[in-house]
Amino acid sequence: MEASEKYHIITYGCQMNEHDSEKISGQLQDMGYEPTEEAENADIVVINTCLVRENAELTVYGKVGALKKLKENNPDMILAVGGCMMQKDEPADRLYEKHPQVDIIFGTHNRHRIPALIEEIKSGREQIVEVWDEPKEPDPETPVKRKNNFQAWVTIVKGCDNYCSYCVVPHVRGPERSRREADIISEVENLVEDGVKEITLLGQNVNAYGQDLKNSTSFSGLLEKLTGIEDLKRIRFMTSHPRDFHQGIIDVVRYNDSICSHYHLPVQSGSTKILRRMNRGYTRDEYLKLIEKIRTDDEKAAITSDIIVGFPGETEEDFQQTLDLVRRCRFDMAFTFSYSTRPGTAAEKMEDKVESEVKNERLQRLMKVQNEISKEKNEKLIDEVVEVLVEGESKNNPDTFSGYTDTNKLVIIPARPGLQGKIVPVKITEAGSWTLYGELLD
Ligand code: 5AD
Ligand code: SF4
Repeated sequence: MEASEKYHIITYGCQMNEHDSEKISGQLQDMGYEPTEEAENADIVVINTCLVRENAELTVYGKVGALKKLKENNPDMILAVGGCMMQKDEPADRLYEKHPQVDIIFGTHNRHRIPALIEEIKSGREQIVEVWDEPKEPDPETPVKRKNNFQAWVTIVKGCDNYCSYCVVPHVRGPERSRREADIISEVENLVEDGVKEITLLGQNVNAYGQDLKNSTSFSGLLEKLTGIEDLKRIRFMTSHPRDFHQGIIDVVRYNDSICSHYHLPVQSGSTKILRRMNRGYTRDEYLKLIEKIRTDDEKAAITSDIIVGFPGETEEDFQQTLDLVRRCRFDMAFTFSYSTRPGTAAEKMEDKVESEVKNERLQRLMKVQNEISKEKNEKLIDEVVEVLVEGESKNNPDTFSGYTDTNKLVIIPARPGLQGKIVPVKITEAGSWTLYGELLD
């Protein structure tokens, strides 16, 4: 290939997708491509898609349409679209038939085949669709291009077996597959040797770690082993499922300083009736008890959640139960979503769909309650000293740096050279719902 061919990746969706994009970047760099921030300058553009909610899906069609122009100006540009959305026939067919500018369509199980597919296009093949229904071969080790040299994502469980009735993830990411403990540990050891200070263990349901393997350690056992790696300063994990979250996890977190006291425990709804219809496997009371347990055992823990409003059959009374649960749990933060019907899921066929206006109005009310709680919780930190792993320039202002506390709170501080990648003490001076502001302590 020519000296400086460039690639550009656009990623939608969750951390798992971000991490997949890091692997795609790694593979492209291995082929000799260099990254570019502008799609206009790229010789290859990859869109890594998400379909967890309808909005994410519509954005992808918009983006593919917009890239058509670029391709007209530069017919040699290769456009590849892959990831979760392509695992479904309908969107993959639609892109293939209506968007001839798309050269490669690939799925979640054959991401590692990208270099080979690119080579095929380069040698003259037109429009390739290669999507595997299931993982056909073990995921080969491929290079990873990380966003910086001090943080890394580490997948521990792929796929999901929970089949929550609203969720498309099990249909596109396949069944739960835990990675072997020895592979995870050696990956983390290598990362730490390379200078990584913080890892985030990824899985749709990390508590299920090991259940599909013979003689494997459990999730808490894995966490404990990872704490033995010297120089690994922070271990994060997400997502935890409230159903099989157990005391062992709380204990290993509270007795080990390097495991971050942050639990992301999506509740989804505060009504037992709706939780049943969602196939979540716990009741409102069980969830409330779990949160109480974490709060008593691990006082400094931050707890965050995901909540869906307007699931089919949700009445005003059910919604009131969600508001009430939110007030009782006092989450540090919650991601709130309006229910979106997903093809092929059990909820798709459920009756009593909630009208959009009602969903939107409930979403607004929920956000208002949660934002106030988040703000109050953050304000309690004013004048406190927290430890922040500084990531670099903050998004909106190059004069400031940003980073996260071990409880996953975003903190903005005045920029100062040499701070990037360091864990520093910061005194909090100001707090909003989503962000803390502070000054560096010397
Ligand atoms: N509609 C709305 N929100 C959804 N989520 C998953 N599927 C849907 C859907 N069909 C939300 C859940 C999940 C988060 C990642 O996305 O809250 O925890
Ligand atoms: Fe979807 Fe439920 Fe699996 Fe999460 S646990 S990915 S919400 S099916």
